[in-house]
Amino acid sequence: MDRVLSLRCIDCGFEHGIQERSVTCRRCGGLLDVVYDYDAVVDEMERSGWERRPLGVWRYEELLPVLRPELKVTLGEGGTRLVRCRRLGEELGLRDLYVKHEGGNPTGSFKDRGMTVGVTKALEFGAKTLICASTGNTAASLAAYSARAGLRCLVLLPKGKVALGKLAQASIHGAVIIAVRGGFDEALDLVRRLAERPEYYLLNSINPYRLEGQKTAAYEVYEQLGGMPDWLIIPVGNAGNISAYWKGFRELNLVGMSEGLPRMVGVQAEGASPIVEAFKRRTSEIEPFRRVETLATAIRIGRPVNWKRALNAIYESRGLAEAVSDEEILKAQRLLASKEGLFVEPASATPIAYLVRAMGDGAIDRDETVVCVATGHGLKDPEAAMRQAPKPLEAGADLMEIERLLNRAWKR
Ligand code: F0G
Repeated sequence: MDRVLSLRCIDCGFEHGIQERSVTCRRCGGLLDVVYDYDAVVDEMERSGWERRPLGVWRYEELLPVLRPELKVTLGEGGTRLVRCRRLGEELGLRDLYVKHEGGNPTGSFKDRGMTVGVTKALEFGAKTLICASTGNTAASLAAYSARAGLRCLVLLPKGKVALGKLAQASIHGAVIIAVRGGFDEALDLVRRLAERPEYYLLNSINPYRLEGQKTAAYEVYEQLGGMPDWLIIPVGNAGNISAYWKGFRELNLVGMSEGLPRMVGVQAEGASPIVEAFKRRTSEIEPFRRVETLATAIRIGRPVNWKRALNAIYESRGLAEAVSDEEILKAQRLLASKEGLFVEPASATPIAYLVRAMGDGAIDRDETVVCVATGHGLKDPEAAMRQAPKPLEAGADLMEIERLLNRAWKR
């Protein structure tokens, strides 16, 4: 298996063998990146007839670090729709606006792309108990894939800050759930310590294999669009996904499938925006937020582990990092739902929230192609939607009464 070369530390450059089970650098504790021999990848792609496989994560098997494909744990992830949004585009003044609808994944978020690869690797390593800290979606996804693989699952969640749908998912799939009195950042510190024990295997986005699965969304965007977008706008929490897309786009260049690259825009919630602050200062270091708050609980994170990769993606692509308020997020969520029939959770509406502002100030040209990543389904967080929804009208089982109500309703 010579197309996968090593796991390289992004801080000190130390190379680990591809059988390495540790998710961080053995020498300095830095994050690891999977390194490929792209000539070997191209050779295998030419032989395999990969183009005949259906759209989805495993279409791109030659670009994934799985060594024992017979262990594959899958629920049919990826292959989500890239939805052209004409009505919303018109409203915003954009000709070519698309939404990558990641809520269409098996558990309703992009996390499934990472978990199918990460949990398959866990089986390769012989792990028995899979663990993560989560703002909700990672937990829901890991719980489902653990169930599918027949492995135990433990999730640590910030108490009182996880949307209802995600909690229900983690619970029904049989995960042990611990609500930690603290935020996501503290929960992650705790699971990282637990993961030092050999019986536990960590599946947060510190895990290099998660990002390998997630990068396939970039390949799909390219194939669905028939080219590179000018802009890719994406929510940022722990900052893994923006890093994964950037790797995916660059790899398309490296295997000779495409030229050019999109500009990456990372969007955070104002109350949890350390990467935006670093970008505004034009520094390459973040200052963690000690206190975080936003109703977009998925991205309520003050100390994103993948900050270095995310800033690199933004700087390298001549991109942007922007923060949006909770009010802007809710407005964007409603706009996408009412103009295009796409229901996304609050965090996933942040790219649209940014666009509303960007089109006002001319940051993006009306003729440019824009892809917004809608990371999670709206049903994940019914409470956030209900908070801004008008109450249903109520009537007796009586047509006259209903008609009277309708007369008033249509007038509004
Ligand atoms: N959107 C949604 C719906 C998410 O659940 C997350 C992250 C993000 C965006 C941000 O992605 O962390 O790669 O920058 N959720 C994680 C979780 C943290 O635990 O479910 P990121």
